[in-house]
Amino acid sequence: MSKAIKPHGGRLVDRILVGEARDELKAKAERPSMKRVVLNEREISDLEMIATGALSPLEGFMCMDDYENVLDTMRLSNGLPWTIPVVLSATDEEAKDLKEGDDVALVDSSNTVLAVLHLEEKHHHDKSKEAVEVYGVDDLNHPGVKYVYQMGNILLGGKISMINRPKHKDFAKYRLDPIETRVLFAKKGWKRIVGFQTRNPVHRAHEYIQKCALEIVDAILLHPLVGETKSDDIPADVRMRSYEVLLEKYYPKDRVALAVFPAAMRYAGPKEAIFHALVRKNYGCTHFIVGRDHAGVGNYYGSFDAHYIFDEFDHGEIGITPLFFDYTFYCKACNGMASYKTCPHDSAHHVSLSGTQVRNMLQQGQAPPPVFTRPEVAQVLCEHYSHATPLAQDTVPTKVAR
Ligand code: ADX
Repeated sequence: MSKAIKPHGGRLVDRILVGEARDELKAKAERPSMKRVVLNEREISDLEMIATGALSPLEGFMCMDDYENVLDTMRLSNGLPWTIPVVLSATDEEAKDLKEGDDVALVDSSNTVLAVLHLEEKHHHDKSKEAVEVYGVDDLNHPGVKYVYQMGNILLGGKISMINRPKHKDFAKYRLDPIETRVLFAKKGWKRIVGFQTRNPVHRAHEYIQKCALEIVDAILLHPLVGETKSDDIPADVRMRSYEVLLEKYYPKDRVALAVFPAAMRYAGPKEAIFHALVRKNYGCTHFIVGRDHAGVGNYYGSFDAHYIFDEFDHGEIGITPLFFDYTFYCKACNGMASYKTCPHDSAHHVSLSGTQVRNMLQQGQAPPPVFTRPEVAQVLCEHYSHATPLAQDTVPTKVAR
């Protein structure tokens, strides 16, 4: 473990209370005298990731100095790169009785206390500024921006202490904390591990870039995001099944780990790519795959903005090595997978389908072609669509000025 990559900021944060300290704070937090704030799903996943060190060096929800620095300079107030605000919001009504310096119980929708927030600061939430700085647009059609505008007007900042881990009904065997992935990598003797973020079922293009990356490292951590996504993204359980059937047949078992990434999807494109990379460093990955339109949505971002943003930092400060991939596809003339970097043929030879096209095919009971999606994965997707009622498509504009 000592030779493993260092977490962001040098130390893996652990904000999970145990033993007497937990019992004491739990008793206090359960008294009616302690004020409560109910967290939504995204806030619960952020809370858990802070507590387990996935968001190291964050020890709580951001106060103003970190928040503003992240928006203005893509750094925390201590200078470390960080691109996505991690904040807890409250309505004016909720916030009016909370005093800076108070302990506040953070509860889930069934009123179970998950943690205590040591409230350092209440500050006004400038939603328009956050939209422009993080997402590049102040446009409610962008799902990330829409979320920002649904948040409360007040942000609550301060360290947290976790008392009860959130209860999860799904993916129990795939829920590995950063310390657990790090132990796994050490046990396996893997020194160079590439992390792969995804919010989609696995298609041949994903498999191709994963395996290209695997050629130059020891192992790959497939890390599908299972937190909140927009309503027309394919549900996490279906995506996980698509990974399971694929791993069974097409991946070397001794070089692949599959675990879930509990975060919510922000759709912040380049800014989220940096965030995804830093967080995978906390899980112990040394390399991170960034392909075409990473974490993008609609046409908000240029296809390779998520590559260019890495140039705005020194390699040493990001710490994890990005592996950049061009647009990949199956080429009939090459008779194999390729990318614009490696294929000399006209795009008429390329088989590439957009997410919307794939969804439309599946909704009509048609499997995507095997050169696009392995038949085993197509079957999982077809089964899902044969049971699912058609979903409303989220509206995304075709072209938006940045
Ligand atoms: S993401 O929102 O999580 O980035 P997705 O699951 O589609 O979406 O992509 C996972 C990773 O694969 C991202 O790094 C993305 O850039 C990359 N990727 C997906 N499809 C392609 C493709 N056809 N060519 C190159 N990279 C791709």
